[in-house]
Amino acid sequence: MSPKIYVPGDAAALSVGADAVAKAMGEQIASRRVDAAVIRNGSRGMFWLEPLVEVETPRGRIAYGPLTTDQVPGLFDAGFLEGKPHKLYLGLTEDIPYLKNQERLTFARCGITDPLSLSDYVSHGGYRGLERALQLTGLQIVDEVTNSGLRGRGGAGFPTGVKWKTVLNTPSDQKYIVCNADEGDSGTYADRMIMEGDPFVLIEGMTIAGLAVGATAGYIYIRSEYPHAFRQLKRAIAIAYEKGYLGGDVAGCGKRFDLEPRMGAGAYICGEETSLLESLEGKRGQIRFKPPLPAIKGLFGQPTVVNNVISLATVPIILDQGAQYYRDFGMGKSRGTLTIQLAGNIKRGGLVEKAFGLTLREAIYDFGGGTASGRPLRAVQAGGPLGAYFPASLLDTPLDYEAFAEKKGMLGHGGIVVFDDSVDLAHQARFAMEFCAVESCGKCTPCRVGSTRGVEVIDRIIANEDRAKNLELLSDLCEVLTDGSLCALGGLIPYPVQSAIKHFPEDFDKPAPPEAAGRIQERPSWR
Ligand SMILES: Cc1cc2nc3c(=O)[nH]c(=O)nc-3n(C[C@H](O)[C@H](O)[C@H](O)COP(=O)(O)O)c2cc1C
Ligand code: SF4
Repeated sequence: MSPKIYVPGDAAALSVGADAVAKAMGEQIASRRVDAAVIRNGSRGMFWLEPLVEVETPRGRIAYGPLTTDQVPGLFDAGFLEGKPHKLYLGLTEDIPYLKNQERLTFARCGITDPLSLSDYVSHGGYRGLERALQLTGLQIVDEVTNSGLRGRGGAGFPTGVKWKTVLNTPSDQKYIVCNADEGDSGTYADRMIMEGDPFVLIEGMTIAGLAVGATAGYIYIRSEYPHAFRQLKRAIAIAYEKGYLGGDVAGCGKRFDLEPRMGAGAYICGEETSLLESLEGKRGQIRFKPPLPAIKGLFGQPTVVNNVISLATVPIILDQGAQYYRDFGMGKSRGTLTIQLAGNIKRGGLVEKAFGLTLREAIYDFGGGTASGRPLRAVQAGGPLGAYFPASLLDTPLDYEAFAEKKGMLGHGGIVVFDDSVDLAHQARFAMEFCAVESCGKCTPCRVGSTRGVEVIDRIIANEDRAKNLELLSDLCEVLTDGSLCALGGLIPYPVQSAIKHFPEDFDKPAPPEAAGRIQERPSWR
């Protein structure tokens, strides 16, 4: 059998030249007349090693990286097809500590299989979850998901089984499964990685969700910045239809499930579930009042499950291995694994899937290797742009929904953005408020008007104009945003702002920078 060479087709690997490396591999294979095949796999999630090339040998898969095109001929000369040493040799991929120390459940196949090979998917445990689901009633599937302890990975951590049960119990001729692949949080990419690296697991998860609640159609709302993921899912969906895993007779069970990917509208607020539904219906992405919940009255007014990509992609392993297997991972009320995404000023950025309970420090230092700049870590923002800034003294907080809430932070989608000691938290607070002003859907006054006024107040604080009075005003404004906003964009923006003031007061007590006066006048005139 011809040796297999794996070159990731993942967008992160492409951004550092994976396509050119794959092409150079093909040229070497042709010119040397060797018998080998190049497979475009997903990423293993070790971004500092991309493009990470692997070769299958009798010992297992051997990794080399990060590789540039000019190093490809030398790699062949060194005998990499037999897994021989080279200066980029990393040994067995699965023995690289970053990977070896993870607990990959949702990402079990990502980077291992050919993402668009259904036979590869099935031979690596794919569709076993669906097989089991087909032997259960809808209620039994819902109970299995409830008992696993799975909570939504989109940010709010709401129990997935409870949401499904509401949809199951709401009578309707038409129900929908909507996958939220808008992935707007800063420093996050887990949804993208799984859609590009193991798309069938999401298709399988959505199909199981459909069987569980009695939905016959599903949509995947993918952010417009993810063209590769969109293409990959489109292809995978076409294959699933062709092989009878989607359509009128899912896996021969006589039930229907149709699936379509849809391109997002390019706004952060379209990741909020009700705005997403508006956008999916072809309208402007604006928040809907709740109640009614989407589970009762969602897409086109019908009962709808809206779940994040990772929530849905985790369902197959729960059905396959059983609820107890999954809930044995984790701590407290956070069961299973968290897909941690290390970003920002970090030496070894990438995806770490690990049981809940690991501390921030372990994630950042044991896996991430500390800051990329080598300077001391000063702040960490977990949970996206609405997450709190934590100082180094909170690094021993375990990655657990409740532990973070106790420290007035949130885990969100698992993104962790690291800052070294060159960061200015007053400017980060301004950035957060400005983000809210730019991304506000405009439906409610506290957020629409308050965020813009908030930027002005922070500008005055930075410029040292009536600082004490403006800090008090900012605190009042944050209270209004928390209590009066219609959705979590306005409601949570005080998290980054107030955490910056609380943990880094010295940054709000500096002499005014020379450009401060200019900044205030830079405000957009249309606001
Ligand atoms: C402003 C805002 C943006 C959001 N963006 C996303 C997003 O990009 N992806 C996502 O899955 N959930 C996002 N959410 C959460 C969704 O509203 C919703 O809770 C989630 O899709 C439910 O799925 P889950 O239960 O599987 O987490 C966002 C929420 C808010 C308030
Ligand atoms: S808080 Fe902001 S984003 Fe949310 S509904 Fe109000 S204006 Fe729209």
